[in-house]
Amino acid sequence: MAETSRFEEKVVVVTGAGSGIGRATSVRLASEGAKVFGMDVSADGLNETKNEIESSGGAFREHLADVSRRDECFAAVAAAVESFGRLDVLCNVAGVVRFSHAHETSEEDWQSVIGVNLSGTFFMAQAAIPHLLESEGNIVNIASNAGLMGQAYTVAYCASKGGVVLLTKALAMEYMKRGIRINAVAPGGTDTNIARGRNFPEDIDFEMMGRYRGMRGINQVEDVAGLIAYVASDEARFVHGAILSIDQGVTAG
Ligand SMILES: NC(=O)c1ccc[n+]([C@@H]2O[C@H](COP(=O)([O-])OP(=O)(O)OC[C@H]3O[C@@H](n4cnc5c(N)ncnc54)[C@H](O)[C@@H]3O)[C@@H](O)[C@H]2O)c1
Repeated sequence: MAETSRFEEKVVVVTGAGSGIGRATSVRLASEGAKVFGMDVSADGLNETKNEIESSGGAFREHLADVSRRDECFAAVAAAVESFGRLDVLCNVAGVVRFSHAHETSEEDWQSVIGVNLSGTFFMAQAAIPHLLESEGNIVNIASNAGLMGQAYTVAYCASKGGVVLLTKALAMEYMKRGIRINAVAPGGTDTNIARGRNFPEDIDFEMMGRYRGMRGINQVEDVAGLIAYVASDEARFVHGAILSIDQGVTAG
């Protein structure tokens, strides 16, 4: 359990809650008192998260939904508000990656990565903002170091995460005079299924990879969840429109 309880009485929607950073975020926020409404396309993943949270006495409701579908995003946010009566925080964590040479990337892979990572983040924000304006809540989007620097073999992923960075800033500007905060956390390599299941083309140039792998190892999901929890909490009340890196210096220079 965390030593703070910054989310007592708060309702949080987390996408991608069935695995990796989304699960760790759900667990962390629930341990600080949040009622967590977790979305994912994986029923098994959501069940595991639910078991972990409920065995520690936390509150979690699971909801199967594909964030690349605008109608499913709106239905999910409505269900969260129906379940828990309000909405205070949206954590847009769901994401997918595909590896290929840019000129060989299929239309299907392009559409799927942009659809989940960028469109999904926007659709969830659209659905949540009216409720967050009411609660003076906030959004935490998950970008990536790949949204702040060009990387080889992941053209759609880089484009989607670069889009998340500017989407975050655009929303922050649009709602500058309203009581809602919008920020992004940009992790570097983190030990999750995405990082473990890398399926690079066979003939890649490994020299190209060193630049964004870094020199300090790999993040653990709890570290990223800790930063997300800070940004989502009232402790970060003056943090708005920020892209907060947790990448062990990879984008430092
Ligand atoms: N792991 C890393 O190295 C790393 C680095 C930077 C950023 N990120 C970002 O962190 C986020 C979480 O990824 P992760 O590393 O925990 O990977 P992960 O694969 O463990 O988790 C991603 C989750 O998103 C879910 N998901 C996928 N498509 C979905 C959809 N259409 N609708 C709803 N849910 C969907 C998956 O089922 C999975 O549970 C992603 O946005 C990813 O791009 C990860």
